[in-house]
Amino acid sequence: MASGDHRVFIRVADAAALAKAAADRLLARIAANSDRVAICLTGGSSPKRLYQLLATDAYRSQIPWHRVHWFIGDERFVPTDDSRNNMSMARAAFLDRCAPAANIHPIPTDSADPDQAARRYELELRTFYGADRLDAARPLFDVLLMGVGPDGHTASLFPDYPAIEETERWVVGVPKAHVEPFVPRVTLTLPVLASCHEMLFEVAGIEKRAILTRLFDGENLPANRARSAGETVWLVDEAALPENFRDR
Ligand code: 6PG
Repeated sequence: MASGDHRVFIRVADAAALAKAAADRLLARIAANSDRVAICLTGGSSPKRLYQLLATDAYRSQIPWHRVHWFIGDERFVPTDDSRNNMSMARAAFLDRCAPAANIHPIPTDSADPDQAARRYELELRTFYGADRLDAARPLFDVLLMGVGPDGHTASLFPDYPAIEETERWVVGVPKAHVEPFVPRVTLTLPVLASCHEMLFEVAGIEKRAILTRLFDGENLPANRARSAGETVWLVDEAALPENFRDR
């Protein structure tokens, strides 16, 4: 299944196959870069299985942890000990057991407000990148993981919110979420999310079918606007696949 808009859709059997496909793509991108690697993780429940897989011996032993850096594309503005904190989920699932602490780059949630946290993270990203402007020839991330919410949001870019139109800032605060959990968010903006060799969406489960149907119909929703300057890949499992795509 492939589309004519430079996105690639890969159909997999179920959530377990999806996690394995994502893990293999991640390994391939890491192997393609013999220098410092930057991976941008995502939150929500979809990537958890992938994160747990990365901690298993089969994958863990293939990752050069000392030269791989881990970022996060959006964060719920809650303390790190809150179960809704995205980076804390990733830390518990694999990072704390596998990655050097200095290579883990969480969005700070101990700032005065989400906007201040956004400014701090923006500075951290710019410092890591080594420039204030993104160069299309030198993407910030090797791989950037993404999920899709029931309203078509991705990262914490919600439909019709001003953050989706932001082109200057790298990271912004989002005072109010459009869907649960209704906590303020901090999110990378579209141009920064685009700065990757591969943007990898993971979409699984029947509860995603309704929003995927709208997205595949071409609705102007954030998840359809998020594109990598390199490759954009959607991994979709059978349960999430819209009816009219099932027999293709
Ligand atoms: C978040 C996210 C968000 C998520 C989607 C899908 O912090 O909530 O990063 O963009 O990826 O809402 O979430 P699920 O995987 O839980 O369905």
